Amino acid sequence: MARAIAHPNIALIKYWGKADPLINLPAVPSISLTLSELETSTSVTIDPQLNQDVFILNGKETINPKVELMMNAVRKIAKKEVFASIKSSNNFPTSAGYASSASGMAAIALASNQAYELGLDHDGLARLARLGSGSATRSIDGGLVSWPTGTDVSSFGRAILPPEEVPLAVFSVTTTAANKKISSTDAMQIVSSTSPYYPTWVQNSTDDYFKALELIKKSKWEDLLALAQNNALKMHAVNLAARPEIIYWQPESLAIMQQVQKIQTEKQIPVYFSLDAGPNVKLLTLQKWVKEVATEFATWDLQLSLPGKGAQIIDQN
Ligand code: DP6
Repeated sequence: MARAIAHPNIALIKYWGKADPLINLPAVPSISLTLSELETSTSVTIDPQLNQDVFILNGKETINPKVELMMNAVRKIAKKEVFASIKSSNNFPTSAGYASSASGMAAIALASNQAYELGLDHDGLARLARLGSGSATRSIDGGLVSWPTGTDVSSFGRAILPPEEVPLAVFSVTTTAANKKISSTDAMQIVSSTSPYYPTWVQNSTDDYFKALELIKKSKWEDLLALAQNNALKMHAVNLAARPEIIYWQPESLAIMQQVQKIQTEKQIPVYFSLDAGPNVKLLTLQKWVKEVATEFATWDLQLSLPGKGAQIIDQN
């Protein structure tokens, strides 16, 4: 048995589109920040009595094909046909634009590596996590993480800057904890096959990735956040143009985005926004502006995260 914790991450440059959906090879490179405070804790217990894996999420037995896919990969590496009981819990709402699959799959990868004695190194672990959910490859590491495109062997998350050297802060603003309507996996498939803007997105977001790497190197943090906001809007623009159209926003999402724009122009507080495949908004800022941002958005349900650590084993026997 082994227990691991992992944190979700927020993509500043989004993973949205797959070159190979079977093994989650991305069509675009991405960059994320691992978030402290929000956390998934997962135990993997090998049980020779079981004739299939049992997955319990937040106390409820759940069927999750992504977990099965990863556990099958684990057994293949281990060369052991033994099943496991996997218990996972999040301290934040699942499936509402919080990247619970990222932290969830990263924690399962790490705990399985230990429980099944796979002996994977960092890169092997990041590849295994990617099989479960693409964005999970970026939750193996802390701080700022890049995930380049490439092959099964070369495309996985790698640390760019450790958490203590990243002066950014993120507020998660909860608009609704309702289940999202279209999963990222399905949306990426719909968008890549129907959105007329998809080829432009792939080209343009790849340019954003290289720009973002430059900005990080030069510590141009505010420019990085402005680029992240623009990249998120472009991701949502390809969704709007897909058939069927994909609209993740709720009225509150738009209200928050407009409030951010107002503050940017009228008060010169460096606050930007990002949204993933759900209605909740992330406010991106610098740690030295956290107080001002919290005051401006005091009427909303806010959860502050600082740059978080990579996935860790916390218990084993
Ligand atoms: C909008 O990693 O959940 O959060 O690989 O199909 O499991 P699958 O998708 P997933 O997609 C995350 C999409 C995103 C952007 C991002 O995190 O880069």
